[in-house]
Amino acid sequence: MSLWVFGYGSIIWRPNIPYIAAYRATAVGWSRRFWQGSHDHRGTPEAPGRVLTLVPMNGERCEGRVFEIPESEISSTLALLDHREKNGYERQQLRVETAELGIVDALTYIAPEHNEAWLGDASAQMIADHIRVSSGPSGSNTDYVLSLHDALEADDIQDAHIAQIAALLR
Ligand code: SIN
Repeated sequence: MSLWVFGYGSIIWRPNIPYIAAYRATAVGWSRRFWQGSHDHRGTPEAPGRVLTLVPMNGERCEGRVFEIPESEISSTLALLDHREKNGYERQQLRVETAELGIVDALTYIAPEHNEAWLGDASAQMIADHIRVSSGPSGSNTDYVLSLHDALEADDIQDAHIAQIAALLR
């Protein structure tokens, strides 16, 4: 049995996991938001950056990608992703929709409200101003946003929140 992983942020444009298939997938009732602090990738504990988490929102949909991990690679992939997403994210099972396979039961990493690095909502301008001055061991926070925006555009995926923040940063 393989494992399906749903990515909605950096996992879309830098999966770095040994997948054997990948499809566009939609999480209905969820939206991605820059509401999570980053102490370890796009910021530091003293000056956290802002990265994405999934937030439940009625009427919204989040388009991302699901990746199929072969059984032989599941435990190493989970160890890798647990480490990569360790700053407040938790594993969660989510049912996502694909054109090719219908509903897929996928594992995703969500940073829930009130985790140690949670930042929460702010205006688009405040979020962009925060991202513009942030960077960490994985690079600048602006690159994190623009890499995702480029990947979504390449896939013809519309996301108003991402587009708004990217426009303010460009
Ligand atoms: C994800 O990409 O699915 C999780 C959030 C991130 O690492 O950007």
